[in-house]
Amino acid sequence: MYKHLTLEIEDPQVLIMTINRPKALNALNTEVIDELDDFFARSYKQYESLRAVIITGSGEKAFVAGADISGFKNLNEATALQLSLDGKKVFDSIENFHLPVIAAINGYALGGGLELAMSCHLRTASDNARFGLPELSLGLIPGYTGTQRLIQLVGKGRALHMMLTGKMINADESQSFGLSNLVCSKETLLEETVLLVKKIIKNGPLAIEETIKCVNAFFDADSDGDQYESEQFARLMVSADGREGSLAFLEKRKANFIGK
Ligand code: CAA
Repeated sequence: MYKHLTLEIEDPQVLIMTINRPKALNALNTEVIDELDDFFARSYKQYESLRAVIITGSGEKAFVAGADISGFKNLNEATALQLSLDGKKVFDSIENFHLPVIAAINGYALGGGLELAMSCHLRTASDNARFGLPELSLGLIPGYTGTQRLIQLVGKGRALHMMLTGKMINADESQSFGLSNLVCSKETLLEETVLLVKKIIKNGPLAIEETIKCVNAFFDADSDGDQYESEQFARLMVSADGREGSLAFLEKRKANFIGK
């Protein structure tokens, strides 16, 4: 269905999306961005039982090595602005997606690749993964929200250090920075990521969705995250899942959440 995205249903609840341009280390050209946009805006709806999405890269070497540099020479100021805004729109839709999206980082996550990974809710990494924002070495700056999201995840000092030096960090450093949530061997990356996803989706779907929204509200200048949290806490308290979760605890049994 897509030219550069392979979609594979792990079970009806978990979809593994592979960015598939291995010869260019899965670099993000406009077609990949358009396909990601299509999936997160519309096409996910055809997977009715879907509870989580895992994004990874094809091949042994890279998650995504950045925006596709080969297209840069044709850009003027207006089209470069549009390229940046188009990428941001897609990455924002991933960050605000109602289901958890996990980046399974299986190699280089550079430039736009790290920006894509940072727009996901969680990141797992194989021990050969490398992370960096090397745009300054191209005489550019990150253009897909890297300057904004890296600060949120690792803090200003580390973010500026990574950007100003272009330094790549390894998987262990990424975990100690709080950038990766889990590190494992490349052979077990997908398996470990699916296990993590399954732990998450045992929880109530509405509660998962609202947690993502509350956390995102903290970073949205137009939202009052604190107030929003209280309102959603109250709404979930009287939802079927909120009632079921507390009852199941008191009756010492597993909750049966229905997403209502
Ligand atoms: N865009 C286009 N092609 C890329 C690419 C990219 N971002 N990254 C790698 N490739 C291509 C290479 O050109 C090469 O193609 P050919 O075989 O046709 O020559 C192929 O992928 C393999 O790459 P290398 O031969 O360079 O592989 P390597 O193992 O020697 O190095 C690497 C790997 C360190 C990741 C190196 O490829 C590299 O530095 N890539 C560019 C990383 C980068 O600068 N990313 C930021 C892009 S700008 C950006 O993302 C802007 C933004 O925020 C919106």
